[in-house]
Amino acid sequence: MTVPALVLEGVSRQFGGLRAVDGVTLTIGAGERHALIGPNGAGKTTLFNLISGELAPTAGRICLFGADVTRMPPDRRAALGIARTFQITKLFAGLTVLENVLLACEALDARKLVMHRAVSSYADLRGRAAQLIERFGLSALAGERARNLSYGDQRKLEVALSMAGRPRLLLLDEPMAGLSAGESRAMHALLESLDPGIAVLLIEHDMDVAFAFAERVTVLHQGRVLVQGRRDEVSANRAVQEIYLGGV
Ligand SMILES: Nc1ncnc2c1ncn2[C@@H]1O[C@H](COP(=O)(O)OP(=O)(O)O)[C@@H](O)[C@H]1O
Ligand SMILES: [Mg+2]
Repeated sequence: MTVPALVLEGVSRQFGGLRAVDGVTLTIGAGERHALIGPNGAGKTTLFNLISGELAPTAGRICLFGADVTRMPPDRRAALGIARTFQITKLFAGLTVLENVLLACEALDARKLVMHRAVSSYADLRGRAAQLIERFGLSALAGERARNLSYGDQRKLEVALSMAGRPRLLLLDEPMAGLSAGESRAMHALLESLDPGIAVLLIEHDMDVAFAFAERVTVLHQGRVLVQGRRDEVSANRAVQEIYLGGV
């Protein structure tokens, strides 16, 4: 049996009196594609912050690749193979595409505590950065400053950066948000083309996109898991239909 990429057991986070995330239990297998959906304020981004370590849970346990990381800081979790993107683009706007990717690749090296950098390793780094840029269809823009890219290309760059550390679990927070229909299709194709060995947890607002991407789906509502299961089970669920169609 392979070790799951992620196991959450009764994970909660309170902000004062508000239970933003309330007893969430979830397992994501190695290489699984999982969508996390739910209305605004359901606790999806907070759950990502708990998984990546930006926030500490007030209760529960988080395991990554079989290791208990509940009290582990974000950089050590990243070193275990987790990467994320943010709901709001976080790029170095004044740096070029290539410089952004180089920095992300270098950060990975730093985590491995490379003390003496051989000249050849810098060439490796540039090679790897160029590969990533090409892989994400950004080669023609390598010398362009991030702030000059279209919003769609900025989001692509963000996913490219998250891949720099060769993650085994990728957390994507609404990567299609704000994209045109065409850009959104391109992003979807890009996500489909990711290495199938990488587990992906995708927060997605558009149910059609979420269901097309993920074989399993978790619906969060007011911090709690409302429904969890195969996409056909979830889409057929009455409570889910009420939330999305009935406007709870
Ligand atoms: N740092 C914080 N301090 C206080 N309340 C927060 C904080 N972060 C999120 N919240 C609240 O937690 C709830 C869940 O927010 P969030 O996780 O951003 O939801 P979603 O991503 O599903 O839209 C919201 O009511 C939000 O206002
Ligand atoms: Mg959010």
